[in-house]
Amino acid sequence: MKFFVDTADAQAIAQLAETGLVDGVTTNPSLVRKSGRDFLDVVGEIAGLVDGPVSAETVATDHETMLKEGRKLAGIADNIAVKVPLTVDGLRTCKALADDGVMVNVTLCFSANQALLAAKAGATFISPFVGRLDDIGQDGMGLIEDIRTIYDNYLFETQILVASVRHPVHVLDAARLGADVATLPPAVIWKLFDHPLTDKGLAAFLDDWAATGQSIL
Ligand code: E4P
Repeated sequence: MKFFVDTADAQAIAQLAETGLVDGVTTNPSLVRKSGRDFLDVVGEIAGLVDGPVSAETVATDHETMLKEGRKLAGIADNIAVKVPLTVDGLRTCKALADDGVMVNVTLCFSANQALLAAKAGATFISPFVGRLDDIGQDGMGLIEDIRTIYDNYLFETQILVASVRHPVHVLDAARLGADVATLPPAVIWKLFDHPLTDKGLAAFLDDWAATGQSIL
């Protein structure tokens, strides 16, 4: 499973990229607002920090303007994936960009039928928002399971990008279900490294090693 970082904070991305575990980045207008940065500048900077796809979201709601925005965003760097919303105009734009060979991430997916439409429109990624479904008492991971089944039934190549991830259990569930990608807030990625028994075990090994009086180097 690939890990994308879900942030527009270039510093946080650079820090995580040093782990060698970052496969891409997703942004959205809310994350850009939070960064306080100019959108086109920050997307250009992020695209240079990672080799994998960097999702940059369109903001127009009509097909013609969305397509112009998408083409402009795609021109920033070769690794830009244009994000479009799961609307009729968004999927028309997805099809047009995909036909041009541009990577497209279809966002704001909340049902398996929407995911089916996105795959048929040639999306590179479908972004089902599991956390937002959980927030309203629906089963976010159940949606991932349904999309996995449908895509496998028809051999769709659209990658399932689990979005709106809130905690490590979402990551575990996504991996169990065979999701292709999970996009994770930086804090969730850092939490994946942690286990109290790792810390405890390491402390004991280091104490015992010190007692031997030896050194490796
Ligand atoms: C990523 O592509 C999505 O925009 C993001 O994961 C949404 O997360 P949120 O529901 O925490 O805003």
